[in-house]
This record gives sequence, C-alpha cells and structure tokens, in this order.
Amino acid sequence: ASNQLDQEKRLAAAAALRWVRDGMVLGLGTGSTAAHFIALLGEAVRDGQLRVQATATSQASEAQARELGIPLLEPQRGLRFDLTIDGADELDPRLRLIKGGGGALLREKVLATASQYLLIIADSSKLVPQLGQFPLPLEVVPFALPWVLDAVAELGGSPVLRSDRHNLKEPARSDQGNFLVDCHFTHIPDPEQVAAQLQTIPGVVEHGLFLGLAQAALVTQGDQVMVVKP
Ligand code: A5P
Repeated sequence: ASNQLDQEKRLAAAAALRWVRDGMVLGLGTGSTAAHFIALLGEAVRDGQLRVQATATSQASEAQARELGIPLLEPQRGLRFDLTIDGADELDPRLRLIKGGGGALLREKVLATASQYLLIIADSSKLVPQLGQFPLPLEVVPFALPWVLDAVAELGGSPVLRSDRHNLKEPARSDQGNFLVDCHFTHIPDPEQVAAQLQTIPGVVEHGLFLGLAQAALVTQGDQVMVVKP
C-alpha cells in the first residue's frame, strides 16, 4: 500500500511539472511528494528543457535542489513566486489544508503567501471530507511552550510536543529552532474558527491550517491524476 501511495505521489509530481513554464520563479515544497517534484524538475533543468529559479521551504528541499543544480534565490524584498508546488498532510474538497507534518509549515506558509499560485500535489490518502484526523502542527517559541499547551488543551486539541526522530528524548526543532506541537483535534468542522483561535495564542509562530491559499491540487487516485479546485 505504501508503494502504491508513493507511485501516486510520483504521478502527481510529474503532472505538476507540466504546469511549470520556462523562466518561472518557483517555490519548492517539503516532504516526500515535493521531493519527487524537485527530482523531476532537476532533470528538466539539467536537460535544458526548463530554465527556472527557485526558493525552498526547508533546508532539506534546498539541499536537494542545490545538489540537482536548480538555481536558488535567497529571501529578498519584492521576491514573488509564479508558482509554488507543495505537498499536504490533508486537504478537503474546498482545498483547505493541514500542513506541517514535515515541520516546515512556517516557511511553507511564507512562500504560499508570496506566490501567485499554490499547487498542491498529493496521493489519494490526503483527500478527506473533513480536516482534523491528521494532528494539526504548530510551530512554537520554546519559552512559551507550557502556556501554549494549556491553551490548546482548552480548545480541545490534545497537544503533543513532537520528539526528534533520531533522539526521542529530545524535542524536534524546526529550521528556525522552534518546537513543534501536534494538536489532536480529530475533527475540525470549522477550520476558520480554529485558525483564528490559534492565532491569538502568544508564542504560536504559525499553525498548519492553510485556508484560502491553494488555487488547485493534483490528487492521484490509482493511475488517474484529478485536478481539485476550491
Ligand atoms: C511539510 O511540512 C508538510 O507540510 C508536507 O507538505 C507534508 O508533510 C506532506 O508530506 P508528504 O509529501 O511526505 O506526505
């Protein structure tokens, strides 16, 4: 089954490559689906089929892009992206997203907001009728952690501090050095309301609800790539 999903991710990534035009400035996402896209983009750049410039949403994606010879742009004033291609942990039919399973939600939201067009690529397991089964990630300033946990618990989000994958005794750190808190809501019937509530908690740098940001998603079911628009 995981092989099947990986194949679906690859097909969505290949379909997304056809949305890229010569000369575009791209935002590059994070995660296994985005990694497929970056690999395919790297081939097209190497073969001279596409000239693009890009900024990545994580150190991992940046390292991959650099290795493949994709020209990289540093953050700078006035920089806007024609197209950002990124994965998601969950998406609903209105194209509201949960992101941040890979811990890159802050940079992902910065690039999504600076983009003309956010294109999500996903396997069939990501499309859900209602968000919330996947724990909603928060990026949290370490000092504020205890009070953030209290506030999230009060909202019904059963917060769990994410552990480092390689050293489970240590908390995971984002690329910015912050903590990640996974909020187990199970059901999020009103994502706009939850987003508004989370935004008022001091020390929450960003939350993983992406609302009104994605213009389209390419979701693979078996060997068919469907276009989902809000
Ligand atoms: C990264 O922070 C996330 O937002 C990713 O987009 C998400 O975790 C999807 O990852 P996969 O493509 O590996 O499922």
